[in-house]
Amino acid sequence: MSLRASSKRSDRTKRGVAVGDRVSVIPYMHCGTCIACRGGKTNCCTDMKVLGVHIDGGMRERMAVPVSHLIAANDLTLDQTAALEPFAIGAHAVRRSGLAAGETALVIGGGPIGLGVMAFAKSRGARVVAMDVNEDRLAFCRAWAGVDATVNALRDQLAAVPGANGGELPTVVFDATGNAQSMAAAFGYAAHGGRLIYVGLVSADIAFHDPEFHKRELTLMASRNATREDFERVLEVIRAGTIDVNRYITHRSSLDDMIGQFEEWLKPESKVIKAMVEL
Ligand SMILES: NC(=O)c1ccc[n+]([C@@H]2O[C@H](COP(=O)([O-])OP(=O)(O)OC[C@H]3O[C@@H](n4cnc5c(N)ncnc54)[C@H](O)[C@@H]3O)[C@@H](O)[C@H]2O)c1
Repeated sequence: MSLRASSKRSDRTKRGVAVGDRVSVIPYMHCGTCIACRGGKTNCCTDMKVLGVHIDGGMRERMAVPVSHLIAANDLTLDQTAALEPFAIGAHAVRRSGLAAGETALVIGGGPIGLGVMAFAKSRGARVVAMDVNEDRLAFCRAWAGVDATVNALRDQLAAVPGANGGELPTVVFDATGNAQSMAAAFGYAAHGGRLIYVGLVSADIAFHDPEFHKRELTLMASRNATREDFERVLEVIRAGTIDVNRYITHRSSLDDMIGQFEEWLKPESKVIKAMVEL
């Protein structure tokens, strides 16, 4: 998206962007005054309004966005600029987990969100194991994210998968499925002393057996949205050439054709990872 605003070139130092800049939008509209915002956690503002979720988003020709929510990305392609946001979700989850080089991370769910988690976990020097129920998605995790092992949740036992973690459970588990059964099962996948991070979310109750949680002294975290710091990290990694945005975008459409395409993209057979709508 390119910026059309009344600001002048000289505003760049003040605002970070100027007229004509190629920009990415941070779509999380936070209030700036609540307890979370005051503590720097603008990503979980008590009055959060996400563009395209709680309020209208980008499926229109023009939109107004506060300059505070723009990031100049003139050296990136338009595809890379548009992909900053989904990758920022993964960058945030990985930062929140405190994942360190040498640790093994299990990422459950190889969709666009889980793939971002895998890419940022790899960028930290962790060993990454991908779990999914869809073999096409697992193949994509190997080819695109370069994961160290894959596990089919319907068929494989995590600890028995060669290369998974030498028979030990991973110290960090991310669930990016949006599936309540998987989220409950994930308690059993983390090592003693480990962390479990829910990146995916469901509108449901999740129940767990307390001894599984307690005996591990497990740390359970939610990861919501992302902050500017996470977007900056994505920019850094894209500039370093570590993330291949071209292969992450599997489908394209014009804005006019998109309505007809949408149903097809929802089917797993379409093998969609990320679809880009072009104006
Ligand atoms: N934390 C955030 O701020 C944030 C932002 C965007 C999306 N999300 C959430 O992240 C989740 C994933 O999003 P996505 O776009 O990648 O979704 P997606 O549906 O494309 O991918 C989910 C993947 O999980 C796999 N899966 C489903 N059930 C499974 C199971 N039981 N075991 C193993 N794998 C299973 C599916 O096969 C699929 O590949 C969703 O819940 C979405 O709402 C969170």
